[in-house]
This record gives sequence, structure tokens and C-alpha cells, in this order.
Amino acid sequence: MLSWAAHSLRLGATGCQGSWRSIATIISGNKTSKMVRERLKKEVEKMASQFSGFRPSLVVLQAGDRDDSNLYISTKLRAAAEIGIEAKHIRLPNTTTQEEVLQSIMSVNENPSVHGLIVQLPLDSVNHIDTDLVTNAVSPQKDVDGLSCINAGKLSRGDLSSCFIPCTPSGCMELIRQTGVSVVGKHAVVIGRSKIVGAPMHDLLLWNHATVTTCHSKTPDLPEQVGRADILVVGAGRAEMVRGEWVKEGAVVIDCGINHVPDETKASGKRVVGDVHYASASQRAGYITPVPGGVGPMTVAMLMENTVQSAQRFLLKSRR
Ligand code: GUN
Repeated sequence: MLSWAAHSLRLGATGCQGSWRSIATIISGNKTSKMVRERLKKEVEKMASQFSGFRPSLVVLQAGDRDDSNLYISTKLRAAAEIGIEAKHIRLPNTTTQEEVLQSIMSVNENPSVHGLIVQLPLDSVNHIDTDLVTNAVSPQKDVDGLSCINAGKLSRGDLSSCFIPCTPSGCMELIRQTGVSVVGKHAVVIGRSKIVGAPMHDLLLWNHATVTTCHSKTPDLPEQVGRADILVVGAGRAEMVRGEWVKEGAVVIDCGINHVPDETKASGKRVVGDVHYASASQRAGYITPVPGGVGPMTVAMLMENTVQSAQRFLLKSRR
């Protein structure tokens, strides 16, 4: 069954032997994320009325002042406010030390009124800061980014109900669900093995019963691997690297890329493209996510989902 968030583009001729087939159906992250945020808003209202004004609370810790991070954080804070989540932004200067970041994390870890804590990445400091050390300092019970070894380990073992699933892969799964295409028994190909996208996406697809191949910079036969994918998730960080000709006809294509490329026709002189060459891939795929408006808004929605889930776990524990 095709949900309302995935809608058909148009029918067109392929040009090959005069056969007709549909051009990919767009999977809208804007619509799906709105649906998730509306559901969460109702859940938060219910919590507040049942538990005398109780609200989930999220802290976003930032070191430095990167423009892209500032933009992502403001989107997260706006989404939280709309849902009724209390969100606080802690800003540390770009001269901050690892010790200072760790101290801030510890103080949030110890604050029982905070249910979720994320450290915005990448860390932007003139002093070297070990990102793994920092992400592992976040209490696993508040790690709504799902980046600590505890949560990543649980996910890799298939313990999905007790961990926090990283927001981008979780959003990708929700978009795949929207297509109505079952993951069970399908061949899924993930491009990229980062801790935030590729590696957890592999685990999530695997424990949703797909057969998964994960490709990376040393994979010698990328077009061949892509051609085998019923479900393709790309988090490579390289503009339009996946060509439409590689894509299996009818595949579900999920593009996690956000890349800026020069475009003289735009006032800004640039435009955003994904890791998939959209124009050619949408001629072969069955379903495809656009960039922008695909995976990006889902990442924010799933962060809100994890924060509400953390608050619910907190309430359950404190009632015992
Ligand atoms: N930077 C870009 N995306 C993310 C994300 O999902 N979480 C964090 N913490 N930092 C990011």
C-alpha cells in the first residue's frame, strides 16, 4: 500500500522499445516529518496533562560557531518548540577545551530534568577534541543521537527496543515504510560506513530482516553492487556520485547527501544536491527521496521522537 506521503510524479516513455513505465514516486520527507511531529505534539500534550505539566527536555551542546551547525541547531530548536519539548542550546566558544566540553556533558548527565542530550557535530574548536570520547561521555539514557558505544552496540546486536537509534537511519527507515515496500528478505545496499549514517543504517536494515551489503571507498565494483539493490541508502558525502544507470529498475532509493555545488543561476551562487544523481536515478527507481525535502527533515523529526521516548522511559522508571 502506498501512503499519502509518497505520491506519483507522472507517467512517461522510457524511449527503449517504446515501452511505458512510471517515473519514480517521490517519497516526501517534508510530509512524513510533519506527520511524525504532529503525532509527537499530541503525545507531549497528553504527558503534560497526565503528569502535571511535565515536558520532555532536550539540550543541544555546541562547540564553536559553524554556519551549517547554527542552521541545523535552529531547525532542531524550532521543531522542539512546536512540539512542546523544552530545548536548551548550550554554546561553548571555539577556544573550548576537551575538558570543558566533558564538564558540560557531565553536568547535563546529572540533571534529572533533562531527558536528551546531543553534542552537535562536527566539533569546531581550535583545540583538538576527541569526538568519540565526547559522544561516549553522554549518558546512554540521554543519548538521543544514539552515537555512544552502548547504544551502537545494542543496535548492532538487534536490541532495537532498548536503544536509541541514530536519527538519520531511523528517518530513512520511516521513509522506506512510507513506500509500503517490505524490507523483509530484500537486498539492501548501503553506501558509506560512518558512525552517524552508514553503519547504523546497515544494522537497522539487517534487524528489519533485509540482506545487507555495505559499500565504502574501497569497494571496487560500486555500480555492480548498486545494481543489485532493491533498497539503496546512500550516505557517501559526495555530490551526485550514484548515477541513474547503476540503479536497479523499481528500487527504493534513499539519499542522505547534503552537498553544495556551484550554480550561477541561483542568487546564492550555489544549490544543494544529494549523493545520488536525481534526474537520472528517478528514471529507473520505483521510489526516490528528493534533496532537499527528503531525509533532512526526517533527521530532525526522529531526534524529537527519541527525546519524547527518553522522557517516556524516564516517567516509567520514576513511577516504579
Ligand atoms: N551534525 C550533522 N548531523 C548531525 C546529527 O544528526 N547529530 C549531531 N549531533 N550532529 C550532527
